[in-house]
Amino acid sequence: MSPDTRTSQTIRVCSLEDISLGQSKGADINGHRVFFVRQADRVVAYHNRCPHLGIDLEWLDDQFLDADGQFIQCAMHGALFLIDSGLCISGPCQDQSLSPIPCHIIEGDVFIELAPS
Ligand code: FES
Repeated sequence: MSPDTRTSQTIRVCSLEDISLGQSKGADINGHRVFFVRQADRVVAYHNRCPHLGIDLEWLDDQFLDADGQFIQCAMHGALFLIDSGLCISGPCQDQSLSPIPCHIIEGDVFIELAPS
């Protein structure tokens, strides 16, 4: 993914088709480590930082989901997070949440809103 800055804060990430249905994808955008999960024609975005230890969630590139694709999973201690809200429902950071990033799809492209770094 090569970001295309539209304005100072709204950033085009990629085409919706670049994120496979039911899959996740990580990226480093303007110094922010982020990841995306696509469900149907909706994409959610979070900062790639586990609320337990503040580290990256994934061990393998673009692998942010559990085996069934039902939850976001931290690879370190297995915390499970709801895809829609980022709330941790199981694990050492239960009841804490991932940090969401506003994410929009406009004419088939995925955009996020990030504070300038
Ligand atoms: S670092 Fe994510 S669950 Fe421990």
